[in-house]
Amino acid sequence: MNTKIGFIVGSLRKDSNNLKTAQTFAKLLPDGVEANFIEIGNLPFYNEDLEVPGKVPESWTNFRNEIQKMDGILFFTPEYNRSMPAVLKNALDVGSRPFGENQWDGKPAAVVSVAPRGIAGFGANHALRQSLVFLNMPVMQQPEAYIGNFDSLLNEDGTFVEDTKNFFKVIIDSYLDFFNKLTK
Ligand code: FNR
Repeated sequence: MNTKIGFIVGSLRKDSNNLKTAQTFAKLLPDGVEANFIEIGNLPFYNEDLEVPGKVPESWTNFRNEIQKMDGILFFTPEYNRSMPAVLKNALDVGSRPFGENQWDGKPAAVVSVAPRGIAGFGANHALRQSLVFLNMPVMQQPEAYIGNFDSLLNEDGTFVEDTKNFFKVIIDSYLDFFNKLTK
């Protein structure tokens, strides 16, 4: 059976650089490992008042079920005002509840931040890691994946330059090593 990795992209933009990066990661996965892109833009803001029978939004239930099916999670995040975007934080919150049913629990994760400039989403990357501690997700520590100066990483045809693709492969291989150590 394939290893199922949930790909969660913290940008809703159609031409998102994070989405483009995630799609390239997905193509570089080895046989036997599949990328499952999980939608987060349709989740109503978390509100505990809705956490009662008959009121739970269907999109929350579907999202929680999707996360439950995943063996591991790769996060791709832009930086918004030195933190993660609200839509991504909301997805973490929705997946973590109701109390005692944290769907993220124990799933090996890695964080990739993607940004237009040299600071490379450092603030978002670490804000996200802070929440993942409480969600009890083991997160790959090294190598770190800060993808900065985004436009300089592309060829004229919009594909990633070879060095960058090689770096993506290093991140994937390291993550799968980390994943296998924790799960096999
Ligand atoms: C940004 N952007 C941004 N960039 C950054 O490096 N640090 C930051 O703190 C912020 N803050 C910020 C706030 C808000 C509200 C927006 C909309 C944007 C710019 C951001 O990195 C840029 O728009 C990226 O292209 C977003 O990622 P995607 O959509 O290309 O994946």
